[in-house]
Amino acid sequence: MDQLFAHSPAELTFWRRLVRPLVGQQATPFYLFSVVPIQRALAELDRAFAGLPVRHWLCCKTQPLPPLLRWWRQQGRPIEVVSEYEFRAALAEKFPPAHILVNGPAKHRWLPRQAVAGLFVNFDSLTEIRALAPLAKRLGWTVGLRLNTREEFDPEAPTHPTQFGLTAAEALRAGRALRRAGLALQCVHFHLRSHVASPAIYERALQEAAAICREAGLAPRFVDCGGGFPPPNVHTLDRQRADAEFSLAAMAGVCARALKLFPGVEEIWLENGRWLSARSGVLVVGVVDAKERRGMRHLICDGGRTLHALVAAWEDHALLPLARRTGRAVPTTVNGPTCMVFDQLARRRLPRSIRVGDHLLWLDAGAYHLPWETRFSHGLAAVLWHDGRQVRTVRGREKFADWWGQWS
Ligand SMILES: Cc1ncc(COP(=O)(O)O)c(C=O)c1O
Repeated sequence: MDQLFAHSPAELTFWRRLVRPLVGQQATPFYLFSVVPIQRALAELDRAFAGLPVRHWLCCKTQPLPPLLRWWRQQGRPIEVVSEYEFRAALAEKFPPAHILVNGPAKHRWLPRQAVAGLFVNFDSLTEIRALAPLAKRLGWTVGLRLNTREEFDPEAPTHPTQFGLTAAEALRAGRALRRAGLALQCVHFHLRSHVASPAIYERALQEAAAICREAGLAPRFVDCGGGFPPPNVHTLDRQRADAEFSLAAMAGVCARALKLFPGVEEIWLENGRWLSARSGVLVVGVVDAKERRGMRHLICDGGRTLHALVAAWEDHALLPLARRTGRAVPTTVNGPTCMVFDQLARRRLPRSIRVGDHLLWLDAGAYHLPWETRFSHGLAAVLWHDGRQVRTVRGREKFADWWGQWS
């Protein structure tokens, strides 16, 4: 096992026990997702924010998996969507409109044709407000604004802003436009980015959002801090723990203080994707070839980054051999099956004893793996779901007829 990562022995045993009986029945590669880690993560959130009016929304885009949506809805919890397909998925899974929050840019393009009464909608631009305000009024939506604070920037080019939300000056105009339309603003929202390193960053964004609200005469009932909590056991490519400076206890303190920043606020909302669900899945790949050249061992697998784990381009995850493999560790690159050098799940020292025929579990595959799957030279992998008692296939492996037959 990678010494770099801090999964508990119980967690590793949980996945090994679930996967072991499956590898004889289900050809690799496949994803296995389980509700159990989500239940544990939610319990952790509920403990950390106990006594505070904090509402957790399921971020649909992170893991658009029907049994997960169904389970979440059965818990009476609400869902956040950012596109027409996600919205329709929420309706198909029977979320009541009052449990659906519509975020995301350019929703004036699609929301009018799907509109239902009683939604929560955060406007992303003045254009959206102009186009959607009459509908919002007629259908009794609870409306909010996404703000673009100085804490939000393009993580790949930090001197540049993002395209989302309204600036302080636009928020002033938005407040006036909403009043003219007879709509009361009820929510202010920001989503800073993924892997927000520390609670202090949320606190600064909240202070700025509160100042914008004072200036624009806005008194939100809800303050929606988006997602961005860094998941445990995931490393950045420079081998640092993504959550090194983060703690839920400190974040609870930030939320408690936020209640004082916004007079009249009733709830703080969070929409964490990765933090909640990354831990809820593994990608299981088979080692199908092994090569050695110039001091590097290559394990060529039937699944990898290009097809199944695009996040491996910016996150380092633990790799767990299903059979216990120990002994001398040598520099190793774990490659996928596509004709791209880029197709690397991991490059690190791994036991020399891993061999062709072994199975490897790429851990923490429960966030942004399904939405970023590709069909590069191959079809989609099977998806298995563990509901706490049993495992079933919820999506079969894509067949050649599906892959080639989609063309007319
Ligand atoms: C509006 C919004 N909320 C929540 C999230 C979830 O982010 P994360 O998975 O980093 O928690 C995203 C991700 O892009 C988002 O755009």
